[in-house]
Amino acid sequence: MGSLHGLLSFCFVLVLVLSSNHLTAKAHNKSTNQIKVEADFKIIAELAGKNSIPNADFKGLAKLALTKAISNGNGICQRVNSLLLKSSDMYTTRSLTGCSTNYKDAVGLINKSLAALDAKKYGDAKTCITDALANSTKCEDRFEELLQRNSPFTFMKAKFGLLCLTGLKHINLLVQKERLITEGCSQTLDKELCISTVGFFQENKGLGLHGLAKLAVEKALQDGTRIHNHISVLLKTTSDKCVLKKLKSCSAFYLTAIGKIKASLPALDCNRYGDASTWVGAAIGSAETCEGVFAGKSNKISPLTPMKIEFSKQVSISLVVIKKLAGN
Ligand SMILES: *[C@@H]1O[C@H](CO)[C@@H](O)[C@H](O)[C@H]1NC(C)=O
Ligand SMILES: *[C@@H]1O[C@H](CO)[C@@H](O)[C@H](O)[C@H]1NC(C)=O
Ligand SMILES: *[C@@H]1O[C@H](CO)[C@@H](O)[C@H](O)[C@H]1NC(C)=O
Repeated sequence: MGSLHGLLSFCFVLVLVLSSNHLTAKAHNKSTNQIKVEADFKIIAELAGKNSIPNADFKGLAKLALTKAISNGNGICQRVNSLLLKSSDMYTTRSLTGCSTNYKDAVGLINKSLAALDAKKYGDAKTCITDALANSTKCEDRFEELLQRNSPFTFMKAKFGLLCLTGLKHINLLVQKERLITEGCSQTLDKELCISTVGFFQENKGLGLHGLAKLAVEKALQDGTRIHNHISVLLKTTSDKCVLKKLKSCSAFYLTAIGKIKASLPALDCNRYGDASTWVGAAIGSAETCEGVFAGKSNKISPLTPMKIEFSKQVSISLVVIKKLAGN
């Protein structure tokens, strides 16, 4: 009996919230927005389906090669150091000491290139790798110069070089792929949204529009939940009363956003795309309101801003796909 009562009042609240969302959606002039989304969608779908833009995860492949290069380089360092302990000849000791520095530098440089790659500083990443290669060659050259022979780790050096070159090759392919997508998206009205949507479509090739919509919404739900959890942690660790108050408001806003996104999933399943799009769209409003609470008059960014940008991006991708479904 109690649960039935609870269910009834839940449905009542649901109807209230739904109808208020409908009102706000109708107040907007949707037609221009709809036309923009459809024009962009055509370009996005074409770009994502283009064979000239390969579907490979070049960043992942580059990182894999560079991570292996680091362990390879560390292996060479160990080898050099153990040989140094045994060395009695002056020239050998001098060569090995130089090599020890070269490979320490090389490993540090590859490590730096990984960070640059994550920061999308591709030019820096490539420079680091080239310098690391030059360091490993320097070690070889020193053996040649002082002892007129190859180093005892020429074979390991060759492997290190190959891994570095593989990393470089994949970074070049990544740059090329990103350039093609950026050029393609330059004709669209929201370039950033186009770029992230093409990326999402490419990562999930094979899913139909409906599957893409569901996945995008589920990811948005994950992002929203992550922010809400992060706020809960901040609420426990913050002592500043003003910040606490803002965090409490944001916690409520994100709870609302999460609820709305959750509600859009059954709407998607029932092909009620108009409703699904209204619900998901309303979630962006909640996130913006939270940012506004933090910004106040001083225009400060909130501790949630980076996560919020990811969240908004995912919500926008969902909207692009759902609006396309609604228009079909
Ligand atoms: C809505 O957009 C259409 C198409 O651009 C335009 O013709 C119309 O005047 C707009 N209506 C309102 C109420 O702004
Ligand atoms: C690699 O870089 C990270 C930061 O990007 C740093 O914390 C770590 O100590 C570095 N490791 C080596 C071996 O240089
Ligand atoms: C080796 O690495 C160091 C430290 O990063 C760098 O300054 C130097 O240019 C590199 N050496 C060569 C021969 O490239």
